[in-house]
Amino acid sequence: DPDGARRFALTLRADGRSGFFPGKVTETWGINGDYLGPVVRAKRGEKVRMAVTNRLPEASTLHWHGMRLPARMDGGPHQMIEPGATWTPEWTIDQPAATGWFHPHPHEKTAMHVYRGLAGLFLIDDPDGPELPDEYGVDDIPLIVQDKVFDGADLATGGVDSGTFGLLGDTILVNGTYRPFHQVGAELVRFRLLNASNARVYRIGFADGRRFDVVAGDQGMLERPATADRVKISPGERVEIVVRFAPGETVVMNSVGEPRKQANDIEEDDFDLVRFTAAATLEPAVKLPAALGGPAGETPPPGARVRRFELSGSEINGRDMEMSRIDEVVAAGAVEIWEIDNTTYAHNFHIHEVAFRILDVNGQPPPAYQAGPKDTVFIPKKAKVRLLVRFGPYTDPVTPYMYHCHLLRHEDKGMMGQFVVV
Ligand code: C2O
Ligand code: CU
Ligand code: CU
Repeated sequence: DPDGARRFALTLRADGRSGFFPGKVTETWGINGDYLGPVVRAKRGEKVRMAVTNRLPEASTLHWHGMRLPARMDGGPHQMIEPGATWTPEWTIDQPAATGWFHPHPHEKTAMHVYRGLAGLFLIDDPDGPELPDEYGVDDIPLIVQDKVFDGADLATGGVDSGTFGLLGDTILVNGTYRPFHQVGAELVRFRLLNASNARVYRIGFADGRRFDVVAGDQGMLERPATADRVKISPGERVEIVVRFAPGETVVMNSVGEPRKQANDIEEDDFDLVRFTAAATLEPAVKLPAALGGPAGETPPPGARVRRFELSGSEINGRDMEMSRIDEVVAAGAVEIWEIDNTTYAHNFHIHEVAFRILDVNGQPPPAYQAGPKDTVFIPKKAKVRLLVRFGPYTDPVTPYMYHCHLLRHEDKGMMGQFVVV
């Protein structure tokens, strides 16, 4: 645009025809294309101007998950887009480099819209960021992981709105591809993992047990790389890892579930995700920087306000989401402790517009790879989690942001609350 804003046009479509299986067509929903959406990419400091057009047969929204922005631009259930209408939010990117994403957020209907295929990545670049593999599709590869149930070639939707957790699929799609494989051409490859599943939790690593470096979480860079051989990632979370490959080798990225007795259904199954083959000669790697530029660990400021949230079956503090009720009022720029006490089976917890740190889970600090700034956290059954939450500068006394369980059936059943920043 003439004022230097970067413009993006995104159209929600219900007429996707996807070829997941050879010779067969699957009816899907998509953003611009047949399934999922384009990668939206912008730099810190840039102004972005969106045009989101709804060509679905029903009203929806598009929420920018992980973006720091004014509540009216957030794309939550208060920014509904009627069929045929176009919504045009704009804001200035004012946050560190991160892997964000976007997906619909209509009140009580998110699960089906996301499951049918509406989601995409929103990458924020920071020209002053650390030197990491960053050539898109070459040594910087996004992996959107989703589980599905197919009935023949058709997407089965029966489980989306039923059961304790909603749909748990037996078939994995990565970037909308069934049984994906990829030839890598570089020694060091960065993968941006997004769990865009309705409810499934993955523990992602490699079949040969190799270790890798985690460089970023939901809200951007860690302070320094954290070595791991598995990363746990629940719906809505992102993890960026850097993996070393040897010339000519083949290795499978997979998910290995928690042992059955300790886990819920959402975290106990095993899946192969992507099969990688390395070329005979590989682009030599830049050395990973020792410091990534992410913030150091924080301790709560003295006297920080504590808010408590009790999670039960599908309620927060004993209540269902109510569009006209503001549950919490927070001061702009506040740093607070949010204590989440899960009295039942596994959930997770996402807060719009903030960056938080996990202080502890059942009194224990999180693994190093989850110690950076985040916006979504897994909450195991009966666990107590404390978050140090840093709120943004945008005030609006009437338009709320959401906090909710990102297991989409729970979100739709009302496991969500609203806060305004004043
Ligand atoms: Cu990714 Cu309120 O959601
Ligand atoms: Cu969000
Ligand atoms: Cu939940």
